[in-house]
Amino acid sequence: MSSALFSPLEMRSLALNNRIAVSSMCQYTAENGSAVDWHLMHLGQFSMGAAGLVMTEATAVSAVGRITHKCLGLYSDENEAALKRVIDFCRKYGVTPMGIQLAHAGRKGSAQVPLDGGNPLKANENPWATQAPSAIPFGPDWHVPQMLSRKGLAAVKAEFVAAAERAARIGFDLVELHSAHGYLMHQFLSPLSNQRNDEYGGKLENRMRYPLEVFEAVRAAWPEDKPLGVRISATDWIDGGWTVEESVVFGRALKSLGCDFIDVSSGALDPRQKIPFGPGYQVPFSAQIRTQAGITTWTVGMITKARQAEEIIAGGKADIVALARGMMFDPRWAWHAAEELGVDTEYSRMYARCAPAQWPEVFPWRNQ
Ligand SMILES: Cc1cc2nc3c(=O)[nH]c(=O)nc-3n(C[C@H](O)[C@H](O)[C@H](O)COP(=O)(O)O)c2cc1C
Repeated sequence: MSSALFSPLEMRSLALNNRIAVSSMCQYTAENGSAVDWHLMHLGQFSMGAAGLVMTEATAVSAVGRITHKCLGLYSDENEAALKRVIDFCRKYGVTPMGIQLAHAGRKGSAQVPLDGGNPLKANENPWATQAPSAIPFGPDWHVPQMLSRKGLAAVKAEFVAAAERAARIGFDLVELHSAHGYLMHQFLSPLSNQRNDEYGGKLENRMRYPLEVFEAVRAAWPEDKPLGVRISATDWIDGGWTVEESVVFGRALKSLGCDFIDVSSGALDPRQKIPFGPGYQVPFSAQIRTQAGITTWTVGMITKARQAEEIIAGGKADIVALARGMMFDPRWAWHAAEELGVDTEYSRMYARCAPAQWPEVFPWRNQ
């Protein structure tokens, strides 16, 4: 049997064993931006070889770039040492390449963690001043962000570069810049959140300018043999917002700057959005961007079944399938998918004996 989902993929010098990625998932459990023991368990469990790639949660490039007080960051020596400890642990016992998602929350920062409500921090919750392309809040009760000045834009770009340099020192295999879900880079792209009248606002070329400048600067700082990609929201799901057609243009521009992949998500820029959730609902965006921008794409969102994922890859709709909730529910999802699709896959040495091929009494068909 052969499987498209379990075929290898190369991006620069990184070789993935299969097309399955553990998607970024905020854990809201860091201390002053630093990873804690929970991250050993959270990322460690995924590093054992089930998926082809494991992504960290959104990792803020500055303290004000965090969504909440409990978000992971990579802006201090303490943050770097704490995350290195986790990634060293994953490397020592795991076998899966590790990627990091670098992020800046912009106007969606200074918020409570979702389990506490996810609302903007109140005056007695140590809120901070947020930054954005324009002084337009995320929603009616949200903090009004400060419009980033020219100096501010340069400073944030430098923070992305510094975080990428820290990620390289830690030994990450891949970087993804978070330009989706209504965070800072997405705020520049969308005409709903970017109403600047300088060269960073207005027509599409101007709205893309800052995210492209940041990409270019990070590409120059990140090791040339390692892949760098971008997560986008393909659409704002709201009239007058960012569109799939604009995503294609953005994809082409990124590709010309050496972008290795686009991780295609959607929404979360504006609370008025109307999303038709359903299995694989974002796959068509990935397929369109992959074909029309000619770039490697990931797809994500309500993909839970092995055959569903297999069909997406075999049908040329994406190059990688990323799972978030499905992976928390079943961290061995990829092992189980391989079994269902009838193919062999990698197991970490310590767990090799649970592979069905090693256990004919329970899985007799494996040795027939
Ligand atoms: C607990 C949780 C945390 C998340 N945190 C992030 C994040 O840090 N960065 C990001 O880009 N997406 C984040 N997402 C979105 C997921 O990466 C994914 O795109 C989304 O959940 C859809 O995939 P799924 O249907 O497989 O869960 C998060 C999702 C969940 C459930």
